[in-house]
Amino acid sequence: MTFRRTLAAAALAALVATSSAHAQAQPPIKVGLMLPYTGTFAALGDMIEKGFRLYVEEQGGKLAGREIQYFKVDDESDPAKATDNVNKLIKRDNVDVLVGTVHSGVALAMAKVAKETGTPLIVPNAGADAITGPGCAKNIFRSSFSNWQPGYSTGVVAAQKGYKRAMTITWNYAAGNETVKGFTEAFEKGGGKVIKDLTLPFPNVEFQALLTEIAAQKPDVVFAFFAGGGAVKFVKDYDAAGLKKTIPLVGSGFLTDGTLEAQGASAQGLITTLHYGDEINTPRNTAFRNKFAVTYKVNPDVYAMQGYDAAQMLAAGLNAVKGDVKQKDAMLAAMRKATIDSPRGKFTLSPQHNPTQDFYIREVKGNYNVVTGVAVKALADPGRGCRM
Ligand code: PHB
Repeated sequence: MTFRRTLAAAALAALVATSSAHAQAQPPIKVGLMLPYTGTFAALGDMIEKGFRLYVEEQGGKLAGREIQYFKVDDESDPAKATDNVNKLIKRDNVDVLVGTVHSGVALAMAKVAKETGTPLIVPNAGADAITGPGCAKNIFRSSFSNWQPGYSTGVVAAQKGYKRAMTITWNYAAGNETVKGFTEAFEKGGGKVIKDLTLPFPNVEFQALLTEIAAQKPDVVFAFFAGGGAVKFVKDYDAAGLKKTIPLVGSGFLTDGTLEAQGASAQGLITTLHYGDEINTPRNTAFRNKFAVTYKVNPDVYAMQGYDAAQMLAAGLNAVKGDVKQKDAMLAAMRKATIDSPRGKFTLSPQHNPTQDFYIREVKGNYNVVTGVAVKALADPGRGCRM
């Protein structure tokens, strides 16, 4: 080897050594998980985290070649603590990306801070319409749904079944009220009439007086939005009050998702609509469900799927910039344009960053929400009021 070639080879070797040292020195990407780990939505937060971690583990524990480091805050589904909690992740922990949360009121506060600071945020559940409406932003994404969507799709199905007089019941907060609004819009468009809306404060579960009122009014159908521990108690109380036999109960699928073992016989036969079902018979969903069950010894639910897809959306962004989170605009643009190969079926994002997706009709059979049809195909949130 000539002296010159030796030098060139040495220089090349040095370059390779520095760049691989550089790659090794790349710090992990910091992901801030702000989720409920206590209270009525605790199980939902746990499933979201499990789903998110599963996708990352499937990629060898890294996204775009970079390790993922988690920072966690229990938001307790308490909107009053939300701004302080999100600031812990942004200012104290210096996270690169925020993932959260379940409760719409908490998520609205998170989104406000994310918008002000420009921190990328992926919402893995909370449906607050404003997040992909008036509060939308380039750096805010959702892997789940808007509250309007499952309300609307359930309204379509209730009207198709020929029910004319409906009552609604929910917690009096953004998710409950917006879901009922979506239901009412579709149900009344389909020829029905909502005769009365009943509410109680979140997260109360003293349903008795409201169930007595339903029994007295005798509507054709009752539409309910509850989730987590509250949904378990509501479905059991509805049955125990003798109403299940006389007045059909429908709801957005959260009423029976992740809750069936606890609800037992009281949930059997209930019809709901949602962007997921246990028995979507595709290789993608089957692989997801098997992997989840083997990893965690528990079956996934809609929340697990949404957490998994939040990680897929982040991966789509990171892959486009080879893990360089500093190239934020390019990363966000790639997330915006991604087609996500979700267990629910492939989806894309609306211009406001909310999934455009099919809403399935599901019926409870045993411990499963079995898909019996599609309520609305490719339902896009209207994204009212969003200016980006
Ligand atoms: C919400 O607060 O947006 C929310 C909570 C639980 C659900 C769905 C929506 O299952």
